[in-house]
Amino acid sequence: MEWNQLEQVVVPLLHWYHKNQRCLPWRENREPYRVWVSEIMLQQTRVEAVIPYYERFMERFPTIASLAACEDEELFKLWEGLGYYSRARNLKKAAQVICGQHQGQFPAEYEEILALPGIGAYTAGAISSIAFEKANAAVDGNVLRVITRLMQDSHDIADAKFRSQVTADLEKIYPAEGRGDFTQSLMELGAVVCVPNGEPRCGECPLCSLCGAYRSGTQLQYPVKKKKADRKIEQKTVLILQFQDKIALRKRDNKGILSGMWELPNIDGMLDEQQVCGWLAERSFEVKEVKVLTGGQKQLKHVFTHIEWHMTCWIVICENEGSDGEMTWATAEQLEHDIALPTAFKKVYQKCPLNQN
Ligand code: ADE
Repeated sequence: MEWNQLEQVVVPLLHWYHKNQRCLPWRENREPYRVWVSEIMLQQTRVEAVIPYYERFMERFPTIASLAACEDEELFKLWEGLGYYSRARNLKKAAQVICGQHQGQFPAEYEEILALPGIGAYTAGAISSIAFEKANAAVDGNVLRVITRLMQDSHDIADAKFRSQVTADLEKIYPAEGRGDFTQSLMELGAVVCVPNGEPRCGECPLCSLCGAYRSGTQLQYPVKKKKADRKIEQKTVLILQFQDKIALRKRDNKGILSGMWELPNIDGMLDEQQVCGWLAERSFEVKEVKVLTGGQKQLKHVFTHIEWHMTCWIVICENEGSDGEMTWATAEQLEHDIALPTAFKKVYQKCPLNQN
């Protein structure tokens, strides 16, 4: 189809959405706070993975004021495993802005929503349309896949200019009623019919008679995405230092990846047992025993968006707490209930024999 025919998608999409939408917890009602939290969690995270986090989060922080007043440690613990912790940090910051500058009421104007920490054009459009029924589009990867297939459009979907153009074209066709549903119908079609991996389910698509890619059998050629630069590989040596019933943790720097989060002590590079013992001796640790992870494994990998950590892991049973002032000692109990340990380190910790009872 052509761009000037885009309006033809509205009626069939809304009709399809009313019949086929998934029952999801954030669709129970459209309170702006609920919509906001769901959209933040859904960035970079799959729906099924988000659901239990969302439910726990809304139970613990039922209001914007409760989120604004929370302790970081508790917030991160609720977020543990979701990744991209800056999303959680920004949620709290924005809750504080809403309490300080908007009398605790989520702002209704697109520009005010966009001005909140952690909210970009996509999220502002989603909240504005879903919670406030405004004609703002929310163009994410799902929506871009649907649109580029319909139009057989070969623009690079990573190009910000193209995204803005798609957003503007969609906003011209927003219906007078059902604007929130229209936003969600586009996302939903991309998530369950016009799927990202593997063959799309064109037999179930309400738009297939309009779709250029379907007509020409070229669905898998869209969307066009320029190949990203390869991820940078970083070698790390990660230590589980155990003294009595505790292990050592440190706080990360306030900048860079996982800023301000807890971590297992780690050193750049791939250190062997002897080098690790040297590093520990410099910090007055007395070492009783050095072991490898459960299963005899030494190497673990963790993949972030732009970086891969290749971790060489050592378990060290210590006879003292050393003299490194940066270490905090935590029990298994504290790690389970109170401390949020990012997944990269959790993977190592879970392969320590102590934690397998
Ligand atoms: N992905 C992003 N936003 C979503 C929503 N509101 N429902 C389902 N999937 C989504």
